[in-house]
Amino acid sequence: MNEFRIAAIPADGIGREVVAAGRAVLDALQAEGRFALAWEEFPWGSDYYAEHGVMMPEDGLSVLEGFDAIYFGAVGWPTVPDHVSLWGLRLRICQGFDQWANVRPVHFLPGVVSPLRKADDTELDWVVVRENSEGEYAGIGGRNLASRGEGGEVAIQSALFTEVGCERIMRFAFELARTRTRRKVSSVTKSNAQQYGMVLWDDVFRRVAADYPDVETESVLVDAMAAKFVLRPEDLSVVVASNLNADILSDLGSALAGSLGLAASANLNPERRFPSMFEPVHGSAPDIAGQDAANPVGAIGSAALMLAHLGLADEAARIEQAVERATAQGGRTRDVGGSATTDEVTAAVIANL
Ligand code: NAI
Ligand code: MG
Repeated sequence: MNEFRIAAIPADGIGREVVAAGRAVLDALQAEGRFALAWEEFPWGSDYYAEHGVMMPEDGLSVLEGFDAIYFGAVGWPTVPDHVSLWGLRLRICQGFDQWANVRPVHFLPGVVSPLRKADDTELDWVVVRENSEGEYAGIGGRNLASRGEGGEVAIQSALFTEVGCERIMRFAFELARTRTRRKVSSVTKSNAQQYGMVLWDDVFRRVAADYPDVETESVLVDAMAAKFVLRPEDLSVVVASNLNADILSDLGSALAGSLGLAASANLNPERRFPSMFEPVHGSAPDIAGQDAANPVGAIGSAALMLAHLGLADEAARIEQAVERATAQGGRTRDVGGSATTDEVTAAVIANL
């Protein structure tokens, strides 16, 4: 039997509630006996920070390295500055494990009303592929000259674009496009305004595209792409973009599908030198934490992406179908117009497995 070691890091706020939901779905499936998950849960996050002054222990990455995958909730709480919590845990894992491909499907679900009227009668389904290791989130820069006194400080934040980084994420996007009904990759930049890094991105895109003559391509500026998400989403299949641009576009995509709470994601180290990490796109949502109101669908979908990565594609598909049946039957939380609790939606998904 396939046995996998999974590290769970629920972290903060609704991260804990949705990780519990995803684990319940996975545990219901593994009870059928075709695969087994050995879970270990780590209490890292903002409470851990209050106690220890760090988001995770110094040797945290070497502890995680022995696992087959990481199942993550969300990090961030008003008691800790957001850049400290994000860099101290999530970005540390993503960058430390070279999880350079962040896959974020935009998935429309039956029974969930989209703010797009078009979604009622048009098949919409696209994937945002986010460069997850460099770009605007490379963490290069600094603050200085605070000695000038109030109002005198300066900060520099540089974006890093490497040919290696661009090429690998683009090849990943093209390979993904080849598995889809519509073989198309849309590349997103702001290369008219950012004339160094993003022009390099455009150059690499043209070079890589030449190796995939069977895949249709387009290059679109990010502001125009935001409009296209709303006005012509049926023209999208795989959208590849830098760290910041894809972060923003994928939130837009999930909002168009009905809620930020629906969106799943995979942070992949495609070479499998390190464990990959699976997490909902949303954050810790302090405004609804502890109310049993969080939409667990994004976390449950991320659990399905994790199974697919572990080679359990059929099991992953069963989770996705169970989610579709559950939402179609009315298993919907408040954010998507329903009144069900997190636990009720989770139970509905399990019942539909
Ligand atoms: P957020 O995603 O936590 O919440 C934005 C809005 O969407 C809120 O109104 C929230 O209630 C709603 N929402 C989010 N997920 C939902 C779900 N599953 N069900 C129902 N409603 C949901 O983003 P926000 O408010 O900007 O950030 C809150 C904290 O989360 C911050 O500390 C931020 O740094 C952190 N964050 C962490 C991320 C991660 O760990 N990957 C990603 C984004 C934000
Ligand atoms: Mg985001």
